[in-house]
Amino acid sequence: MTSDDSALRVRGLARRYGSRAAVDNLDLDVRPGDLYGFLGPNGAGKTTAIRCILGLIRRDAGSVEIFGDADSVTQRTGVGAMVETPRFHEWLSGRANLEVAAAYAGRGDAAEIDRALDRVGLTARKGDKVKGYSLGMKQRLGIARALVGQPRLLVLDEPTNGLDPRGMREVRDLLVELARRDNLTVFVSSHLLSEVEAMCNRVGIIDKGVLKAEGRMDELLARASGRREVEIEVDDRANAVRALAGIPGAEIVADGADGRICVALEQMDAAGLNRALVLAGVGVGGLIPRTGSLEELFLSVTSAEPGVEERA
Ligand SMILES: Nc1ncnc2c1ncn2[C@@H]1O[C@H](COP(=O)(O)OP(=O)(O)OP(=O)(O)O)[C@@H](O)[C@H]1O
Ligand SMILES: [Mg+2]
Repeated sequence: MTSDDSALRVRGLARRYGSRAAVDNLDLDVRPGDLYGFLGPNGAGKTTAIRCILGLIRRDAGSVEIFGDADSVTQRTGVGAMVETPRFHEWLSGRANLEVAAAYAGRGDAAEIDRALDRVGLTARKGDKVKGYSLGMKQRLGIARALVGQPRLLVLDEPTNGLDPRGMREVRDLLVELARRDNLTVFVSSHLLSEVEAMCNRVGIIDKGVLKAEGRMDELLARASGRREVEIEVDDRANAVRALAGIPGAEIVADGADGRICVALEQMDAAGLNRALVLAGVGVGGLIPRTGSLEELFLSVTSAEPGVEERA
């Protein structure tokens, strides 16, 4: 990939806290026009990676290129960001907050500030003190602040955090519009699969600081369903586990409900699995193929254990 078709290119990004790797050798490729979902469970390293990408914290290793620019100072001019819950001067109005931020960043004029507030639907309340804003309004004000300065890349860390379903929907629609209509590249982190599945065209899944999957949403979904999963009901679990160990490409991924076993298959279909089990002397009472989805993929590539903090 040349720098022309890269909006954000991260290579070998690493960040440790003490002896724990919060982000480990992370590569990311975001293309211009992408609405890229950066998915991972709590503690996966999303915020840490984003802080490193934005130059807000030091990275231990790795490189970050934004639209081909590797210079951490100049690349910032093209980026608007919101990391975690945005903080404001509570006693100033929403608009005054953006004026302060624009002056501090040295970019964005009055007209642009009004445009940004309009873009997020805050025009009617822009003169009110932030103190009286709801969480959703603060979140939208944070996005407006990220929009001032005409960024080409928006980096948003869990922008729907704490919002009610309507607020989440509004933010999602806004991001889709910003990507489609305003031609912005949007990199958005989330731990909500349904949200990412509903709005993103590309996705990266991170777990314990490591990238587990990256690609186009449709391809990942196809891959998720391509790895067939079947839930089986057997008369003798121990015997079934033994038999499964001898079947190439078969892997027990989870224990299903009611003593069922969930098996992922690579080379074999459900009927083939049935035959193989019966031949091994396992009584198969039921066999339910499961359809793929982003959730299946997410669960199959991320681990059930808590994040790195639990790993001494
Ligand atoms: N300032 C810090 N000092 C020590 N450890 C930290 C610090 N910030 C993050 N970590 C650790 O780094 C790991 C990744 O945290 P991070 O906040 O990046 O995860 P996240 O994916 O953003 O999680 P969440 O979905 O909860 O926001 C965690 O184990 C966390 O405890
Ligand atoms: Mg976070």
